[in-house]
Amino acid sequence: MAGFQSPPIRRILTVLSVLFVLSLSTAVSAFNVSTLRFDEAYTPLFGHHNGNLIRSSDDKSVRLVLDRYTGSGFASSDLYHHGLFSASIKLPSDYTAGVVVAFYTSNGDIFRDTHDELDFEFLGNVHGKPWRIQTNVYGNGSTSRGREERYLLWFDPTKEFHRYSILWTETHIIFYIDEVPIREVVRSDAMGGDYPLKPMAVYATLWDGSTWATSGGRYPVNYKYSPFVSEFSDLVLRGCRKDPIQQSPSAAADEGCAASDAELAEAEYATITPERRQAMLKFRHKYMTYSYCYDARRYPVPFPECDVIPSERVRFRDTGNSNIVGIRHRRHVRRGRRVPAVGMGSNSQAAI
Ligand SMILES: *[C@@H]1O[C@H](CO)[C@@H](O)[C@H](O)[C@H]1NC(C)=O
Ligand SMILES: *[C@@H]1O[C@H](CO)[C@@H](O)[C@H](O)[C@H]1NC(C)=O
Repeated sequence: MAGFQSPPIRRILTVLSVLFVLSLSTAVSAFNVSTLRFDEAYTPLFGHHNGNLIRSSDDKSVRLVLDRYTGSGFASSDLYHHGLFSASIKLPSDYTAGVVVAFYTSNGDIFRDTHDELDFEFLGNVHGKPWRIQTNVYGNGSTSRGREERYLLWFDPTKEFHRYSILWTETHIIFYIDEVPIREVVRSDAMGGDYPLKPMAVYATLWDGSTWATSGGRYPVNYKYSPFVSEFSDLVLRGCRKDPIQQSPSAAADEGCAASDAELAEAEYATITPERRQAMLKFRHKYMTYSYCYDARRYPVPFPECDVIPSERVRFRDTGNSNIVGIRHRRHVRRGRRVPAVGMGSNSQAAI
């Protein structure tokens, strides 16, 4: 049964979390990245610009608000070919079932059928149950081949800001929480176009995922607890800015990105040190609740990038759900819309 919320187990988890953080603190130091003002790289995407997207007076942080009329979001003004995309995020607190916060890269607006995407999705929860985090990777429109992983966290993401980063290079993808790598996807020939190859923009959104986000839609957003507020700061965008329409690999365009790619490859966060790899394994061992690599029902033949470790496999059911960590979900968390259509004639948004 779902034992996570029972007090003794929760206490044990808290103790484990403290030990986990202590064991990490010697292994990691903050990344050396420079942050941007909102107006340097971003633009509002949807939501009422004053009521639902509130910028601080120094323009270095943004509050997204979901109320019964609309959610909100912002996006980078440019697309990037490879890069580090990062923000410190504080999630809405209290009762947040059905609420979704997403921080992701995508080019879905431009390449409708062959889009690429890298996701952090934060799924709200009922009282007393923790937020869950999902990561995903799509390439060239591989939406029928979801590569979801889900995790619990070693901290309460509604209490303080934590940094969430997506590194995307020519050779690999790393998802970081603070300075801990939580997932690495190494590009292989077998992945083919499923590895993101085209320039992407970065997005941050807060919206109503009533129909699917919490226990498959069993707990919709309860607007009695609104407004739901998520804060973003320490905005980082580092990569090769690129016009996606200029897809012809002209020498000049390539050269521009080659220099930036080389710089990115040199960055400390582009390489997982042995210490950080230890931390990653520890995190995945203690906090990963679902992995597509172990979901034999959905994918009888694991994907080429899946490094199926027998000793790890025994900890997962053939549904991909951990039989040790956290809450179990019978239903697969479906992919939702990250950017609700502006105008929102849809049923998941309250009447406008
Ligand atoms: C941090 O990055 C800046 C700019 O890239 C560089 O000038 C500085 O030396 C770096 N600091 C450290 C401690 O590496
Ligand atoms: C991406 O998908 C399109 C349409 O299915 C296909 O024509 C193209 O070859 C694919 N590209 C890669 C790199 O796999």
